[in-house]
Amino acid sequence: MKNLLKLPKNLSRRYRMARLIEGFDRKADSLANPQASGMPGGMHKSTIDEVLESPGLAERMRNSELRQLPAEGKRAYFSWDLPGFLWNALLCSDTLHKMVTNYLGPDVRIDDLYVKTVLDGYDSTSEGWHDDNVGYRIKVFMVFDTEGQPSGTVVVPTDRPSIYQVRLTDELARMVKKPKMDSRSNQQLVSYNAGDCLIFDTNIPHRGDYSNGQGIRYCVIAEFIDRKKADALRGRAPCGPGQGRHRIKIPADLGIDLALCPLIDQKLVSKNKNGITYGY
Ligand SMILES: [Fe+2]
Repeated sequence: MKNLLKLPKNLSRRYRMARLIEGFDRKADSLANPQASGMPGGMHKSTIDEVLESPGLAERMRNSELRQLPAEGKRAYFSWDLPGFLWNALLCSDTLHKMVTNYLGPDVRIDDLYVKTVLDGYDSTSEGWHDDNVGYRIKVFMVFDTEGQPSGTVVVPTDRPSIYQVRLTDELARMVKKPKMDSRSNQQLVSYNAGDCLIFDTNIPHRGDYSNGQGIRYCVIAEFIDRKKADALRGRAPCGPGQGRHRIKIPADLGIDLALCPLIDQKLVSKNKNGITYGY
């Protein structure tokens, strides 16, 4: 009932946001070069070691403190405390840098980085068809380990330009907690083995196939977005470091100069005696 009462307000905000997103994404369509990104249809399936140009990286992740189970009774584990070796690999990979820059344009930045371990049967809202309501934006799913046969992600590859529009039927279905899980033409199921990496534009229709799996997915997610768009959407859409809610820590032992990293949005960096943080 509460959801129903909030519905008109939520929807009208979505439509206002859509006009803002459209302006930035039209610019991205003229400035970026998605054809050269290696992400046809807005997606690329590969391995962590390959995308981050670091042989053995997935194994190092498996053997690190990144591998945590959710607390007793919880279906998911989140952490924004990522080790220096992973930040280093993300910021130094030429492959990843070229891919996100070609796809999103010169103002791309790393927007968030977190661990998300998922036990199947977890998330009732992402199992319905949706986009992330921020227009073009890349998520890098680094599945560094699995147990059992964890559920995959279903996507409908879509070529650019593909200007964001509110998907009214899907959004209404989600707002009233009746997510749409029908099968769609051209849909593709991406399943995960330990070490796999899925890079995709969260503007293309997607859903978590949580009902079919029986397993655990240990995953680190990195997000990339146009910095001017993220600044404009700040507080009104799910983007920004710490999902826009809190600053995140960057370890001091990176071995690289952050000031020289084009994927780092320098205005989000703060240094004090406790270390380096990134966020609003
Ligand atoms: Fe999503």
